[in-house]
Formats: sequence, C-alpha cells, structure tokens
Amino acid sequence: MTLPPYPTSRPRRLRLTPGLRDMVRETRLSPKDFVYPLFVRHGKGIRHEIASMPGQYQWSVDRLPAEAESIARLGIPAVILFGIPAQKDPLGEENFAPDGIVQQAIRAIKQAVPEMVVITDVCLCEYTDHGHCGILHEGGPPLPQGYVLNDPTLDVLGKVAVSHAEAGADVVAPSGMMDGMVAAIRSALDAAQWEHVPILSYAVKYASSFYGPFREAAESPPAFGDRKSHQMDPANAREALREAALDVLEGADMLMVKPALPYLDVIRRVKDAHPELPLAAYNVSGEYAMLKAAAANGWLDERGVILETLTAIKRGGADLILTYHAKEAAGWLSE
Ligand code: PBG
Repeated sequence: MTLPPYPTSRPRRLRLTPGLRDMVRETRLSPKDFVYPLFVRHGKGIRHEIASMPGQYQWSVDRLPAEAESIARLGIPAVILFGIPAQKDPLGEENFAPDGIVQQAIRAIKQAVPEMVVITDVCLCEYTDHGHCGILHEGGPPLPQGYVLNDPTLDVLGKVAVSHAEAGADVVAPSGMMDGMVAAIRSALDAAQWEHVPILSYAVKYASSFYGPFREAAESPPAFGDRKSHQMDPANAREALREAALDVLEGADMLMVKPALPYLDVIRRVKDAHPELPLAAYNVSGEYAMLKAAAANGWLDERGVILETLTAIKRGGADLILTYHAKEAAGWLSE
C-alpha cells in the first residue's frame, strides 16, 4: 500500500485530543501484565529496605500476608520469590528443605491470597556459600578451578523445583542458564507427579552488569569470578534464538528474556520466533535503580519514565513483565 503524501496525509490528525490518542493507542499496559519480585528472609517483623533499590524490601514471612494482599488489591496477579537462607553451604541445602525460607513464603502467600500466582526462582546462587549458580569443579584442568559443573547441578535443580512444587508454587522459573535445565526440571517434576506445574524458563539471560542491586537484595554476589561461563554474552542476539529454541524443545511453557530495556531487540526476535509461547521480560534491579536514582535527583519525571519504559517492553513483544515498579505502576494505571 502506498500512503498518500502530505498534505493529504497528516498523522498529527490522530494526535489532536487525548480521546483520539487513547482510541488509536496500540499498546496498553495493565497491572495484569506484571509479576512482582519479593525477597524473603528469616526472622520476625522484618521489612528491610534495600539501599540500592529504594522502595523495595526484604520481608520476613510473617509480614508477607499483608504485603500479598496489598499486591492483589492493586490487580497484580503474580509474584516471584527470592529467598535468603539462614545458612549458605556448597550445595545450597536450604533451597530444597521442606521448611526452607521460600517454601515457608509460598505457604504464607497462598494461605493469605489463594488466587495469587506464586512463581519461584530456581537457582543455587542465593544458597551457596560461594554465590555461584551450581556445583563447583574442584579438580584440575581441562576445566578451570571454580567452573560451574553443568550436569551435577541439574540434579539439584530438579530437587529444588520439586520442593517448591510441594510447598505450593504455581510456576517454577529456572534462572541458572545450565544446559538442559528445563528438561531436567520437567522430568523431575513429572516423576514426582507435578506434571501440571509449568516452567517459566529464563531462557535468554545475559551476563549483565544491571544485576548489581539484586545481588545486594538477595545477598548473592559471587565470592569470586563472574557468571560469564553460563550467562550469555550481551553482544549476542542470534544465540538467543538458539537458547530459546532449545528450551522450547525441552518443554518450557513460557520463555523469558533478561534484562529487558537494553535487550528490546532480543525480546522482539524471541517473540517472533516463538509466538505460540507467552514471553516474559525481566525489568531487572539495575534498570529500576537507574530510574529511581534519576527521579530522586529530579533529573527525570518518575511516573513518565517508568510507564514509558514498561510500555516499551510490552511493545517490544513481552506478554509479562517482571518488575519492581509493579506496585507503583499498577497504582498509576488504575487512577
Ligand atoms: C539468579 C537471579 C539473578 C537475578 C534474578 N535471578 C541474579 C544473577 O543472575 O546474578 C537478577 C534479577 C535482577 O537484577 O533484578 N538467581
């Protein structure tokens, strides 16, 4: 189709009034698009603000019911849980303990708000004393010392997923970027008769510097080294298609791209390659911190940049957005 040129065509006509602009708006943000991340820790009466993420907290389990109710009242349908264990060890034992921190948190939230979709992050890094996402290689070459061993880690991830399902998780979300993690978790869940529990795979997760504040929030920085031998190189987009395709073949029910804003091109490509699956994007801690810091300084209009960012992520192809902005954005959207 050839468009008639100016002056017959005047795109500004459809921008004249708020009513017209609203009528032709292509992307509509809703609280239903959001998944709100929550950090949980042991103790009582704790609501500890995370310094690099103003407005975000570590919660003790006793305070979760009230928080879950306030999230539900805003129309947000889902949360994703991150646990800070009492003790860290080489294997991350509390990760699959029946009374582990995340297991307790799942039960508390489901009891308070049964309809809340509770998603759990399935990874080892918050639980291991070395802060890495799997079991470490202790031997010599050819593998480097401290290399995260892939296949032994898969067994642990399967146990963690089953433990979260037993505690009542609605969805498990493996985030460790181990090869074969989706297949391993699927077969562990199925063998334990949790075949109805869906997997949201962090299929395309980059080795990003934007995770900095999260590592403070979850108390999970790697004790040495980095995550570049399993998380993706930020320079690669074609590789994202390979990662996503493998996870689809392994049985992922939903895919995720992470971070979100610097990877809108990747979100679009993965959505176009797998339009049949819901796609989530994780608007990560550093993206949140950036906007909050600029807003606190009066350098950016807070509400404007947050809603613009979330709209852009949805426009880019995300069906779901994991975001620390969920509560404030849901509040603005319902005004
Ligand atoms: C791993 C995990 C991380 C994040 C979510 N899951 C940290 C990492 O990979 O280092 C980061 C989320 C964020 O920055 O908001 N369990």
